[in-house]
Amino acid sequence: MQFNFAELEAQDRYRLLTNFIGPRPIALVSTLSPEGQNNAAPMSFFNVFSHDPAIVILGIQTRPDGVEKDTVCNIRKSGEFVVNMVDMALAEGMLVCGLGVGPEVDEIALAGLTSLPSSQIAPRRIAESPCAMECRVDRLVDYDRRVIVLGEVLQMHVRRECLDSAGRYVNPETYQPIARLHADNYVTSDRQFEMSSPGLASVYERLAKSGT
Ligand SMILES: Cc1cc2nc3c(=O)[nH]c(=O)nc-3n(C[C@H](O)[C@H](O)[C@H](O)COP(=O)(O)O)c2cc1C
Repeated sequence: MQFNFAELEAQDRYRLLTNFIGPRPIALVSTLSPEGQNNAAPMSFFNVFSHDPAIVILGIQTRPDGVEKDTVCNIRKSGEFVVNMVDMALAEGMLVCGLGVGPEVDEIALAGLTSLPSSQIAPRRIAESPCAMECRVDRLVDYDRRVIVLGEVLQMHVRRECLDSAGRYVNPETYQPIARLHADNYVTSDRQFEMSSPGLASVYERLAKSGT
């Protein structure tokens, strides 16, 4: 089947993009309102795009009525947010944080989770997250119904057991983030496998043997 995106309705573009671009890691984004209220919401339009500077990106849609989500309001005002990575233990809490509640509701408390102070920014991080990143807004790119947030990572908090004994590399047995596929479908990273590069010489060797 062919899909010309210029001819598609916005919701059909959303359906196709989110059905086929996955799994997408989930950022449980915690922010602070000017009144000092905690806010948290999951975002799967999320990834890392640079390490120098360390830049993560979020894509946040307006609500169906066109009003900006609390996460965006808080990010615009404070320029700060925390990305809390999500594993199976945090999955249910993450879904609760995704419910549409007013800005007066602390979703971290609503989900029965615990917030801890951050080191360099005002928004609090989520204690149950295996890895939390304190971020400062680098820039915002505004579209009609969506804002793309580029955030610089200032500080990373990692649960000790999620790293190897030298504290350098992730321990795949203990750090298993979940990710979103289409609609309500998710995957967890409990079936990891190693794959090393074959090297160009062996690729040419194989081609030579097959006579192509
Ligand atoms: C797994 C998951 C991923 C989500 N990803 C996004 C996203 O990338 N962008 C977005 O605008 N909303 C996303 N949402 C919906 C928001 O989390 C939801 O609208 C939330 O209520 C916003 O809360 P806020 O008003 O406190 O910011 C996602 C929801 C779930 C459950």
